[in-house]
Amino acid sequence: MKRFAIKDYGKAADVFEEIEASSREVDATHVRVEVKAFGVNPYDVSVRLGNMKSFRPLKFPYVLGNDSAGIVTEIGADIKNVAVGDAVIAHSVGGANGEELVLPGHKLIKKPEKMSFAQAAGFVTPWITAYNMVTHLLGNQIGEIVMVQGASGSVGSLLVQLLKANGKKVLATASSRNEAYVRELGADEFSAYDKEDAGERFAETADTVIDGTKGGRSSASGVKIMKTGGNYVALNQLPEDQSKAGNYLHFGPSKDYSDLEALEKLVALYEKDAIQIKMADSLPFTLASVIKAHEMLEGHPPAGKIVIERV
Ligand SMILES: NC(=O)c1ccc[n+]([C@@H]2O[C@H](COP(=O)([O-])OP(=O)(O)OC[C@H]3O[C@@H](n4cnc5c(N)ncnc54)[C@H](OP(=O)(O)O)[C@@H]3O)[C@@H](O)[C@H]2O)c1
Repeated sequence: MKRFAIKDYGKAADVFEEIEASSREVDATHVRVEVKAFGVNPYDVSVRLGNMKSFRPLKFPYVLGNDSAGIVTEIGADIKNVAVGDAVIAHSVGGANGEELVLPGHKLIKKPEKMSFAQAAGFVTPWITAYNMVTHLLGNQIGEIVMVQGASGSVGSLLVQLLKANGKKVLATASSRNEAYVRELGADEFSAYDKEDAGERFAETADTVIDGTKGGRSSASGVKIMKTGGNYVALNQLPEDQSKAGNYLHFGPSKDYSDLEALEKLVALYEKDAIQIKMADSLPFTLASVIKAHEMLEGHPPAGKIVIERV
C-alpha cells in the first residue's frame, strides 16, 4: 500500500517520499480503514521541521497525519461501534498520509452521510482541540464573553461556532480579508489585526481570551483584552509577561480526553447544522500534493482546511 513518508527532518520538497508499505495486522481492539481523505495541520509542519524532536523523536521513514476519513475494511473481534463498510472519521497518532490505516476502535466514529470525506478529515484535530479546550480545560470557569484570536483559522472557526452553540458572546480577531467569513460563523464583534489593535478596542472585556493564531502571535493584545483575573489560553507558547492577574493556561492534547466523546459531540452538532468546516483546497492523492499542502501551510493560505483526497 502507498504511503507518503518523511525520510528526515527538513524542507517538504527534500524529505517527503512515496513508499510501499506492508499492511499491519488487526488485533481484537483495532480497525482497518481505507483512507479516502486526510487533513494537513500546522502540527504536521512542525513535526516535519524537527521542532518537536527533543521530546517526540521519530524513526524514519515516518508517516505523518492524525486526521482522516475513510471506509472500514476490517474490524477486530471486540469492536462494536463500527462495522465493515462503514464510512468513518478517524483520529490516529500519525500514519494517516497513505492509503490505509490501522487504529484503535475508540479513535473513530461513523461519519454522517451528508459530511464529505474531505470535510470529515478536515474537522478532526481542529474540532478535538476546540471541544476539549472549551469543555474540559475551561469548563464552567469560561465566563460569558470570550475572545477568539485567529477566528478564521481551523481551530478558531470551530471555537467561534462551539461557543455560540454554548450561548456565549464571542469577540473575534482575524485579518481583514476574513471579516465576512468570521461574522458568518456567528462572531458578535470583529477586529482586524492588520487594521487596529484589538487590545485597545476590547481592553478588559473578555472573561476568557483564546489565542488560536498560528504560532501564537497575539499575546500582548490578548492579555489586554482579558479581564483582570480572567482566563488566557494559548495553543502555542504562553505570554512572557504574565504580570497581569489571570489564569494562564496552555492547551495541549491529553490522554485524559476521550476522542470518542469529542467526535460524538461533533456528529451531533453537525446533524443539527450547528457546525461547519470551511475547505480551502482539496488536492489529489499524490506526493506533489502533500508537499504543496505543507508549503501552503508554511505561508499564509486562505482560510479553511487543506485536505488530500482520493477520488
Ligand atoms: N496545542 C494544541 O493542541 C494545538 C492543536 C491544534 C493547533 N494548534 C496550533 O494552533 C495554531 C492554529 O492552528 P490552525 O490549524 O487553526 O491554523 P490555521 O488554520 O492556519 O489558522 C491560523 C490563524 O492564525 C491567524 N494568523 C496568521 N498570521 C497571523 C498574524 N501575523 N497575526 C495574527 N493572526 C495571524 C490566521 O488569520 P488570517 O488567516 O485571517 O490572517 C488564522 O486565523 C497553530 O499554531 C497550530 O500549530 C495547537
